[in-house]
Amino acid sequence: MMEGKKVVIDCDPGIDDCFALLLCMKHLDVAGIVAVGGNTDLQYTERNARLITELAGRPEIPVYAGYNLPLGRKVVRATDVHGNSGLGDVFVQEPIKKLESRHGVDYLIDTFMNRDDVALITLGPMTNVAQALLKEPRLATRIPGILSMAGSAFVGNDTAVAEFNISGDPEAAQIVLQSGIPIRMVGLNVLRQNRFTEKEVEQIRQCGGPVAEFAAELLSFAIRRYGYSNLCDASAVSWMIDPSIITKSVKVHMDVETKGELTRGMTVCDWRAFLSADPKEDLAHERQISHEEMGAKEGALNVELAMEMDSERMKQLLLDTIRSYGK
Ligand code: BDR
Ligand code: CA
Repeated sequence: MMEGKKVVIDCDPGIDDCFALLLCMKHLDVAGIVAVGGNTDLQYTERNARLITELAGRPEIPVYAGYNLPLGRKVVRATDVHGNSGLGDVFVQEPIKKLESRHGVDYLIDTFMNRDDVALITLGPMTNVAQALLKEPRLATRIPGILSMAGSAFVGNDTAVAEFNISGDPEAAQIVLQSGIPIRMVGLNVLRQNRFTEKEVEQIRQCGGPVAEFAAELLSFAIRRYGYSNLCDASAVSWMIDPSIITKSVKVHMDVETKGELTRGMTVCDWRAFLSADPKEDLAHERQISHEEMGAKEGALNVELAMEMDSERMKQLLLDTIRSYGK
């Protein structure tokens, strides 16, 4: 569904978004970047998107601003993880590159209504994509596929069960997930398999050059709180760059809980067809009953969910990429 590897990236940079953008700008054909309010306010996320394109020597990639606030009632930010500026405590110069004047949602609509060769990546709350679908419902048949860092098979980070990008706008996520657009999702369940620590900070620093220095500073801030970072967004986009990095994925029906007092933002996966004769094997998540046999019980298999990854391969990709930005 995403053979062309031409992409539009909707994101909320954010430390790990910056790493993801560095990977994408090197390995994919990035048609444009749309910023959304998420990790921090839009004024910073769009600024950071411009900044990282400039640092990567790619100022020609257009950056658009979308929505700052979610469709739903509650604004959630992750400034405790990313700092108020979205870039931790790393000092940055204001970018020279200007923001595009068109609204990010109009850019999304124009792009996907008029082009057949672009896939979408989302690395933040799905507000912009949902707003675009609400404004132009035909978009649901025009977007060939979405690769998304979001959700989880079982555990959350913003709350016990809700991952941040879904928590940031559960109503938007539910609109996107039920739109019929094929979705590949990389969630916390698999990202937990990929840990970056001080060791990787040093390896990145040793790549040399301004991009490596900036990336090392960002990662160093990110790991200060818990001693590690999963660099979620960077790990997610690596699936599109090198499909062999995700070594197991399953098709599943997924909904987003938008109402629950304790479960708002949870990605509810229907695992009923995966239950094993031996209950001890249930968490292996191997399909036991075909979708057809499940009949009406299971909804549409709307998400291909990543389950296992080759962490060493992903880390090598990241190091090689940062090194390739040069001194
Ligand atoms: C996601 O939330 C944000 O803090 C990160 O940028 C990533 O997109 C991880 O849950
Ligand atoms: Ca993000």
